[in-house]
Amino acid sequence: MKIIKAKDYKDMSRKAANIISAQVILYPNSVLGLATGSSPIGTYEQLVEWFNKGDVDFSCVRTVNLDEYRGLDGSNEQSYRHFMNEHLFDLVNIEKSKTFVPDGLAENPVEECKRYDALIESLGGIDLQLLGIGHNGHIGFNEPSEAFEKTTHLVDLKPETIVANTRFFESADAVPKQAYTMGIKSIMQAKKIVLIVSSEDKADILKKALYGPVTPEVPGSILQLHPDLTVVTCGI
Ligand code: F6R
Repeated sequence: MKIIKAKDYKDMSRKAANIISAQVILYPNSVLGLATGSSPIGTYEQLVEWFNKGDVDFSCVRTVNLDEYRGLDGSNEQSYRHFMNEHLFDLVNIEKSKTFVPDGLAENPVEECKRYDALIESLGGIDLQLLGIGHNGHIGFNEPSEAFEKTTHLVDLKPETIVANTRFFESADAVPKQAYTMGIKSIMQAKKIVLIVSSEDKADILKKALYGPVTPEVPGSILQLHPDLTVVTCGI
């Protein structure tokens, strides 16, 4: 595990964007696993800036996102598909048809989970996975539980996750109660993982995840077992 301490959020974002652009420059048809939330916004901004300068080309990149709220259409402003379009996909030369997010409106959740796993497999797995971590240790929406869920699944979001995500909605009631998330196996099979953590109030959970026992009660703790994990932090 490599830990990189950045000066501030901007510096963390530049460092994470540097790792991602190096990946894309070296391997233009990389499969990038992407995250949403407040942690990666600056990373995407930086990638867009470098794209505009002509430094990085996304034309052959494929992407798979970690998660999506169940019940939200991709055009809904709170959906993760919308977030990705707004912060990255609409701003660079990526082919939209090569960007994948679970379908929040899928009629059959079991089929949707199978479809998403098969899709990741058909892409040859993930080359670089960008991750944030929740205050309860979740990665993607793999919430604390009694066992690690390996494959894509539908989760009931924990009350603390609903509270944390209320900032993006009008009220806690408006936050969907379920989400699709990539499983721990797909995340752990990514060749490289970059975890970005920027807020001081995540210091405790980060310590537990990186140095505590590996347990599904702290889903991020599984990352200790990954052979190529880079953690970029600031303010911690
Ligand atoms: C989002 C995701 C989540 C977030 C986590 C941290 O796609 O996978 O695990 O990374 O909830 O969210 P922020 O960055 O908003 O603190």
